[in-house]
Amino acid sequence: MKNFTYYVPTKIHFGQGMISHLSELSESGSRVLMVYGGGSIKRMGIYEKAMKILAETGLQVFELAGVEPNPKVELVREGISLCRSQKIDMLLAIGGGSVIDTAKSIAAGTCYDGDVWDLIEDSSKIKAALPVYTVLTLSATGSEMNKNAVLSDMSRNLKDSMSSDLLKPRMSICDPTYTFSVPKGQTAAGTADMISHAFENYFSPVKDAFMGFRLGEAVLRTCFRYGPIALAEPDNYEARANLMWASTNAISGTTKFGTDVGWSCHPMEHELSAYYDITHGVGLAILTPRWMKHILSPETAWKFGEYGREVWGISGEDDLKVGEEAIKKTAEFFFDVLGLPRTLTEVGIGEEKLELMAENCTPRLANAFVPLTKEDVLAIFKDCL
Ligand code: NZQ
Ligand code: ZN
Repeated sequence: MKNFTYYVPTKIHFGQGMISHLSELSESGSRVLMVYGGGSIKRMGIYEKAMKILAETGLQVFELAGVEPNPKVELVREGISLCRSQKIDMLLAIGGGSVIDTAKSIAAGTCYDGDVWDLIEDSSKIKAALPVYTVLTLSATGSEMNKNAVLSDMSRNLKDSMSSDLLKPRMSICDPTYTFSVPKGQTAAGTADMISHAFENYFSPVKDAFMGFRLGEAVLRTCFRYGPIALAEPDNYEARANLMWASTNAISGTTKFGTDVGWSCHPMEHELSAYYDITHGVGLAILTPRWMKHILSPETAWKFGEYGREVWGISGEDDLKVGEEAIKKTAEFFFDVLGLPRTLTEVGIGEEKLELMAENCTPRLANAFVPLTKEDVLAIFKDCL
């Protein structure tokens, strides 16, 4: 088991009605920049509720609306100017990962004397950040309790993350009822994202991090069990609550401590989103079974055997056979059960930029479970067409 430092300073208020805890924002000052997306929080009545609590607490609220999925750096720059001109004390993100990541980036960018993209190129430059609070409305990214913020600069086809303990939210409100309104496609994509976060840590060469791997399996089993229920019954509290807690834990570090390994599908997917602005979880679902198939070999079969037996209950002594069956079940889950697109072609991606995207992400794949070359990535991409 590898060494690690456990540091999770985020206070989570989990459950129905927990939005009342927004009054705790007063511990960080009086001027709040509330960040949100394209309007779902108004349709759900969360905006109104939040405004009421913030007003009763005596907080002055400024607003930055219009965060798009795959959040763009331009809006972050706008937010930073607003924070400086209005002497904002803290950020409140209400939404999914894109909204939270925008707020985190603004929080760090406001305290940095330079362009915010520098913090993506070198996160060690993050020396301070305004406190970030969140109200989560979509289970997927785990941004509500982790140290990452992912931004896109479409003018340069770049999508990348900054990462710092200083970005970990001060407090997050996770009310599963707020996810009842998440559309089917987004619920499916969010579930695929959580599954991928668990896989990225699970497929590790480390063999003795028993505890971490069992936690990863718990995330996976939760997604496989409750994803379909949430799709069939969007207001099933048990399903939405378990998915929400799985999303938070899939990428908070919990499944990574002691198992540390470079990620595989995320660097590849970020290229797809950077060039084609596709939904993150959709890209991951398309890539994952092909990546698994590509790396399954006599050397890696032990891990796929473990996955198949522990998560899918597949019996048999032959790791390769169990692994093949587990990959089949994984693909069926993404495409038949969750109903996600099966191919890159279906989401409008052709052959044109595959080589360029493969070249861009290869340097990040050197420390993966199976290190991937440009040729490997290209083969995986082509298999996805
Ligand atoms: O804009 P609004 O109106 O809010 O609509 C959003 C958006 O259109 C909608 N939505 C959110 N909550 C809803 C809802 N619609 C109805 N009811 C609700 N309760 O859902 C759409 C997608 O929202 P978005 O925030 O983009 O989704 P997600 O949470 O999946 O975030 C994706 C972004 O996070 C990044 C992804 O790359 C992508 O940019 N990631 C962030 C990570 C992190 N910070 O650690 C890690 C991940 O691996 C990922 O890369
Ligand atoms: Zn992800």
